[in-house]
This record gives sequence, C-alpha cells and structure tokens, in this order.
Amino acid sequence: MNEPLWSAVDRYIATHLIPEDEALDAALAASAAAGLPAGAISASQGRLLELLARIHGARRILELGTLGGYSTIWLARALPADGRLVTLEADPRYAEVARANLANAGLAEIVQVRVGEALQTLPELLADGAGPFDLIFIDADKRNNPGYLEWSLRLSRPGSVIVADNVVRAGAILDPDGSDPSLGDGGLQGVRRFYELLAAEPRVTATAIQTVGAKGHDGFVLALVADDH
Ligand SMILES: C[S@@+](CC[C@H](N)C(=O)[O-])C[C@H]1O[C@@H](n2cnc3c(N)ncnc32)[C@H](O)[C@@H]1O
Repeated sequence: MNEPLWSAVDRYIATHLIPEDEALDAALAASAAAGLPAGAISASQGRLLELLARIHGARRILELGTLGGYSTIWLARALPADGRLVTLEADPRYAEVARANLANAGLAEIVQVRVGEALQTLPELLADGAGPFDLIFIDADKRNNPGYLEWSLRLSRPGSVIVADNVVRAGAILDPDGSDPSLGDGGLQGVRRFYELLAAEPRVTATAIQTVGAKGHDGFVLALVADDH
C-alpha cells in the first residue's frame, strides 16, 4: 500500500492531462461548504467517464448517486447539444446543491436531478418512457447494486454501457463475510452479489478494472449490454 505515491501520481496525471476547471472546482468547493460528504470520483476518473461517453457517442445518460453533481458534470459535458442526463439522488439537500452546481456549469437544461430512493425513481423513469439510456453510471448505495443492475438492464438497449464504481474496496471484496463501513450497511455484500449477478447474466459482457489513486485501491465494473438484449 502506498497511498501517498498513488495520490502524487494522480496529481501528476491531472496536472498534465486535465486542465483546471472553474465549474468542477466550484462544484467540489460548494459541496464541501454545504457539508456534503467527500464521495465524489477523482478528476482522472471523471475524465475517464467523459471519454467513455464520448467514445460511445452517448446521447442519453443515467446516473445513480448524484451527491453534489461532480461526476454528473463530467458525464453531461460529453453529451451533444440535444443529449439528456438523468441523475438520481435520495437526499433532497444533496440534490439541491447538485442543481446549483449544474446550473453554474451551464448544464441545467440537459440534466434532470430526480430526488428519491433510486429503487423508487427507477420504475418511475420506466413508466415515464425515459430511456433507453446509452450509458448508465451506478454510484449510489452499494447494498442495492443487485437491484440497480436489474433496473439498468430494463432501461438499457443493445449496446448500452454500464459502469459501476467501488467494486474492489482495497481487496475487501474477496471476503465472503466482509463488510466495509464506508459503503454503509450491506454495501460490500451488495457489491459481491452484483458480481454474481453479472457473472450469471447472459445479456452482459463485463469486466472489472482495479485502480489506485487519490481514492485509494478500488475499481470499477465496465459492462456492455448484448446485441440480442
Ligand atoms: C458515492 S456518492 C455519489 C458520488 C457522485 N457520483 C460523484 O462521483 O460525484 C453516492 C450518492 O448516492 C446517494 N444515495 C444513497 N442511497 C441512495 C438511494 N437509495 N437512492 C439514490 N441515491 C442514493 C447518496 O446520497 C450519495 O449522494
């Protein structure tokens, strides 16, 4: 374990490849000032999400877990002018901060923040005829990841991409009886079940990539929904 080194390399990457950005910096500062927890992805992870969305030509994006809208800004910026992003957040106070951050980033018109438990708002999305989404980023409460996979598949199309964060947790994922307090009650077990469901799901081709950096040793799942979905 060498977290100072990983963080230093993240800074090196950001210094070289990710220019200072007023709206993103302001979103982090406003989130901290409002007392939101520090759960946003790193800048290099945000750039990765943006690149995935652009490479994929995503026009509709769904995000589960908004917090202050930091990852939302990265993803929404990848959209064309007529693109749309829906982001789901349980906490109305976080959603309010996110809306202000998105407005400051000039993205209020293309992003909708929907407040409520995602397992409630996902069926509403389907009922409203939203989707299918080209890219879905799962980053909410991890104990519900199994349900989020099911709803992501319902709201996707052949060729949709699903990304899920925090699927390694410094190797804690290896422990069948493990827990990770920072993922909340049942969070680690939710991620383990998520792997099992992915493994058994004929409609997806998936991998997980381990990462180290400012966020420690963790990783993300990258999955592609099959053509015969
Ligand atoms: C890790 S943070 C999201 C970070 C954000 N994606 C980013 O990188 O900027 C997880 C978020 O999910 C929200 N959340 C937790 N449980 C939820 C639920 N059941 N439904 C919707 N959102 C939930 C939390 O309030 C928190 O804002």
